[in-house]
Amino acid sequence: LPASTSAETASLVAPLHEAAAQLRNSAIPVAFPTETVYGLGADATRSAAVRGIYAAKGRPSDNPLIVHICDLEMLRSLLLHGSTTPSSADDPIPAIYHPLIARFWPGPLTILLPLPVPSPLAPEVTAGLATFGVRMPASALARTLIKLAGAPLAAPSANASTRPSPTTAAHVLDDLAGRIELVVDGGACAVGVESTVVDGLCAPAAVLRPGGVSMEALRGVAGWEGVERAYRDAAEVGKEAPRAPGMKYKHYSPRARVVLFEAGAVAEGDVVAGKTVAVIRTGGWGVGVEGFGVEFDGGRRREEGVGLDVREGRLVGAEGTPVATFLDVDLGRDIKGVAHGLFAALRELDRLGADVIFVEGVNGEEDIAAAVMNRLRKAASEIRG
Ligand code: TXA
Ligand code: MG
Repeated sequence: LPASTSAETASLVAPLHEAAAQLRNSAIPVAFPTETVYGLGADATRSAAVRGIYAAKGRPSDNPLIVHICDLEMLRSLLLHGSTTPSSADDPIPAIYHPLIARFWPGPLTILLPLPVPSPLAPEVTAGLATFGVRMPASALARTLIKLAGAPLAAPSANASTRPSPTTAAHVLDDLAGRIELVVDGGACAVGVESTVVDGLCAPAAVLRPGGVSMEALRGVAGWEGVERAYRDAAEVGKEAPRAPGMKYKHYSPRARVVLFEAGAVAEGDVVAGKTVAVIRTGGWGVGVEGFGVEFDGGRRREEGVGLDVREGRLVGAEGTPVATFLDVDLGRDIKGVAHGLFAALRELDRLGADVIFVEGVNGEEDIAAAVMNRLRKAASEIRG
C-alpha cells in the first residue's frame, strides 16, 4: 500500500495488519479475497497453522493445498530453501513456466513445481506429493496480506468441504462462522471460479483443473501449444485414478438437487409438484417444464453481494392452478458474468429453500465455459441431454 494513505486506505491497513499478525501467530486460519474465490489462508511453513485449515473446512487431508505468493522473490526463496550455494545465474523456476508467468501472473493460474528437499513447506500442504501448486493472485488485497504476513499462504477455497466456493465474505461466514475469527472483506470476487491448475513438469504439459485462464489462452504461449486436458468431469470420474487429488471428492454442491441440462430438454412436471423449483439461466440450452406455465410476482429479490436478481413466482398447471413455487435467476449471456454469479446463485437458491435447481448448460469447452461446465457437472446429481 502507498505510504500516503487516504482515510479509506488507512481504514483497510489496520485490519490487514491484524489479519497478518494472526497468520503469523495463530493456528486459526484467516479468510481473504482473491480474484477467483475467497481463500482460507494459513502460513504454509507452519504445520499447526495448516492443520487449522483442514479442521475449519472439514476437508480430507489427502487433498493438497495451493500456495499463494506475493512476488517472484518469495517463490524463488522458497525454491532455494536449504541450498547452501544458490547460484545467482540459475533461476530455480523451471524455464517452461517463464512465458506463462510473464503472461498470466499475477492471475488465476496455478503451476506445479517440484518440492525442494528439504522442504520449507509444512508436509500438510502437499499431502505427501513431490510437487506443490503455487499461484500469485491478481487481487492486490491478497498480495498485500501475504506480504504483511511475510510468508507464503496455503489456501484452499474458504467454503466448508463439498459446498460451492465462496465469492463474497458473507458466503464465507455462512459456512465458517464460529470456526474462524477473521475474514478480510474485499467485496465480490471478479472471476468467480477457481484458478486453472497446470502441470508443465510432464510432457505434454497438462491442465489438471479448468479455471480462470482458458486452454485457448494457454495454447497461445510459447512452449504451451500442445497442452492437453488431463481433468475429467463428473460423468467420467471413477474410470481411472485422479491426477489432481481434489477431483475425486463431491464438490460445489448446494443442498438442493441440481439437474444440469447439456442440451435443450424438458423436465417432467410430476417431479416438481409441491416443490420449490429453481432455474438458473445462462443463455445456454433452454430449460422448460412440460405442460406448465410460469407466473411471476411483481417484485424481485436482489442478492447484493454479487448483484444477482432472483425473480419469484409459481408454476401453474391447466386453468392457472399453482403447482410449485418458482425461482428464476438469469446470469445473462456473457460467459464471464455467468462464471461471476454461478456459485452465488447456487448458494442463494439454497437459502431460498429450492428443492431442485435446473441449470442451463453452456457451450464452448475452450473458454472459461469449460470451467463453468466442470463445476456444474460436479455439482449436478443428474445430467440431462
Ligand atoms: O482459485 C483458486 O485456486 C482458489 C483460490 C483461493 O486461490 N484456491 C483453490 O484451492 O481452489 P483448492 O484447495 O480448493 O483447490 C486446489 C486444487 C485441487 O484440485 C488440488 O487437487 C490441486 O489444486 N492441487 C494442489 N496441489 C497439487 C499438486 N501438487 N498436484 C496436483 N494437484 C494439486
Ligand atoms: Mg475448493
